[in-house]
Amino acid sequence: MKNNNLTLGEFIIENQKHYKSTTGEFSRLLSSIKLAAKIVNYKVNKAGLVDILGDVGDTNIQGEDQQKLDVYANEVFMETLINREIVCGIASEEEDDFVSIKGKRGTNENKYIVLIDPLDGSSNIDVNVSVGTIFSIYKRITPVGSPVEIKDFLQSGSQQVAAGYVVYGTSTMLVYTSGHGVNGFTLNPAIGSFYLSHPNFKFPEEGKIYSINEGNYVHFPQGVKDYLKYCQEEKDNRPYTSRYIGSLVSDFHRNMIKGGIYMYPTSAIGPKGKLRLLYECNPMAFLAEQANGKATDGYRRILDIKPTELHQRVPFFCGSKKMVEKAAEFMAKYP
Ligand code: AHG
Ligand code: MN
Ligand code: MN
Ligand code: MN
Repeated sequence: MKNNNLTLGEFIIENQKHYKSTTGEFSRLLSSIKLAAKIVNYKVNKAGLVDILGDVGDTNIQGEDQQKLDVYANEVFMETLINREIVCGIASEEEDDFVSIKGKRGTNENKYIVLIDPLDGSSNIDVNVSVGTIFSIYKRITPVGSPVEIKDFLQSGSQQVAAGYVVYGTSTMLVYTSGHGVNGFTLNPAIGSFYLSHPNFKFPEEGKIYSINEGNYVHFPQGVKDYLKYCQEEKDNRPYTSRYIGSLVSDFHRNMIKGGIYMYPTSAIGPKGKLRLLYECNPMAFLAEQANGKATDGYRRILDIKPTELHQRVPFFCGSKKMVEKAAEFMAKYP
């Protein structure tokens, strides 16, 4: 390890100058997320040894079978953020509705809300493959001191103050942006600190990896089928390589380092796509744009979409700029 690496804590303090607020509220919020990530990491790391694998026999509001780790990670992030009284509202993939946090004295003077996918890549938990956490942070638009309302959560992605993910992989990393580029921090498990290991992440403009669940091919729109054919043609530096983990966080992370495109389009079986706009696509789109990449629903910029529902789904095309633009060219032929 390089000795001169900053810890995440030091980095947050050094970057406080970027935020207009001087209350330290935003820094304390990031520190709480860091703490919750370490707790979840500890459990994920020994998942095969403790009774945390498998499902709980329940479904979330979207009809997905909840895994024990989905529920555990949700509890950790919710409790950490609620007990430390750091935010005024939270929405989570695993909660039916948003939660308004009153605070000790009955009024809550905090101004930030958090949207979270506590455990991304549920299907990979039991097979020891990388999973993640995704978070998105906004300032509330309703007055401070009153209960939060649904409109605080339905802001378009371009209003995000910060967003990031944790990838529990071969090493555990926390990657985030507060609108001034993207930085990655690797956890040193012996010490329990995250260190700045990947300053100023950038997607290569062009890439050679495409990531999509090709098992759904027959159900894809024609534009996606045509783009996949383009990726597989032997011409001009093609065929590209196909890589798909099935954890958005891990697929995104690899593509940001190596250059690639991630796609979860609409299909005949999922006419709205699968991924959720508020706590999956918006934060990843903000990170992508901050890292010189691009994110669309095939036609429109993700960050411009005005949300209408907490658990809204949206098709997602994200990654290296030129690849996302090329995919959009094929989509545009079938408006
Ligand atoms: P989650 O585990 O939070 O519900 O998210 C699952 C998402 C995403 O991580 C992944 O890219 C995608 O679902 C995989 O879906 P398929 O198994 O349909 O390919
Ligand atoms: Mn899920
Ligand atoms: Mn997810
Ligand atoms: Mn999830």
